[in-house]
Amino acid sequence: QANERESMYLVSEYASKFFQNTMWKTDVGQAIGLSYFKERGFTSETIKKFDLGYSPDEWDAFTNKALGDGYKLDYLEKTGLTIVKEEKRFDRFKGRVMFPIHSMSGRVLGFGGRILTNTKKAAKYLNSPESDIYHKSKVLYGIYYAKQAIAKEDNCYLVEGYTDVIQFHQSGIDNTVSSSGTALTSEQIRLINRLTRNITVLFDGDAAGTRASMRGIDLILEQGMNVKVCPFPEGEDPDSFARANSEEELKEFLEENSSDFISYKASLLMKEAKSDPIKKAELIRDMVNSIAKIPDNIQQEVYIQECSRIMDISENVLYATLAQIQKKEG
Ligand code: CTP
Ligand code: MN
Ligand code: MN
Ligand code: MN
Ligand code: MN
Repeated sequence: QANERESMYLVSEYASKFFQNTMWKTDVGQAIGLSYFKERGFTSETIKKFDLGYSPDEWDAFTNKALGDGYKLDYLEKTGLTIVKEEKRFDRFKGRVMFPIHSMSGRVLGFGGRILTNTKKAAKYLNSPESDIYHKSKVLYGIYYAKQAIAKEDNCYLVEGYTDVIQFHQSGIDNTVSSSGTALTSEQIRLINRLTRNITVLFDGDAAGTRASMRGIDLILEQGMNVKVCPFPEGEDPDSFARANSEEELKEFLEENSSDFISYKASLLMKEAKSDPIKKAELIRDMVNSIAKIPDNIQQEVYIQECSRIMDISENVLYATLAQIQKKEG
């Protein structure tokens, strides 16, 4: 229903303004929220550009203000900003710094809220629930700020998190977005596909980052797009790396460490195979599975040749495996 959705947009935009005002215009907001972002190296300009904010550390400060200003509880609940439990109302994002999530056209769809001190007791990030205006699988964090640069550069950097996007934009790399908290989906890739056919996937320097990225990448290949990957050094993510290096060093790092996905995966699998030769057949299959996703036959052929060289297997074996996989998938 269009009216209902419009009301949800309005209350989300109101919330975003409220969190920004709380951060910039109250003592507590400045002392806790603003200084958190400043300590992470974000400039005032960056903090304003992304409409970052702070949600008061009280049970229902936001909800009460919103109700007082005439917003209906129904929409506060449907957007997940307010949690209703046994007649009681709670602010979902109590005491967190806030990252509004914008649509392609700049409307506020939902929020990510980060806890200020890392504890095991609560999730580091809380996100708005799925709703009639917020479909997680169809949204990319940062797309509103990145769309022009993605088209202009004819490339999109895909990172894991909110702060990676923000730090990259601050470092002058505006063609950066993130799938933030969900595994990459085909719909998210289609959003990028409208702007460019080239994606560079940047993953955190941890094992979880690598594995998760690998799965998403097959979905990009399926859409006939060109994929490069750029792993970050152990223990670093794009945010921490960008912060520790100059713009020039960052750009140089990206140039030097981005490699074609298929070649990267082939080399990675080869390293695994060396320590476990029995696994080699399985790894070849894994590799050819990725190649099978590519819709263009000529591109497939180029990759088969490349893999044959890197993995030291005959092209015939690779073609036979490809045929098997394609037959199975009908
Ligand atoms: N995420 C989430 N819920 C969590 C942890 C992570 O939704 N409990 C999502 C967030 O969108 C986060 C992204 O996954 O930005 C990547 O996670 P991670 O690398 O752990 O966080 P960072 O973005 O590096 O955040 P920070 O630097 O603030 O620790
Ligand atoms: Mn704004
Ligand atoms: Mn990570
Ligand atoms: Mn990270
Ligand atoms: Mn990080």
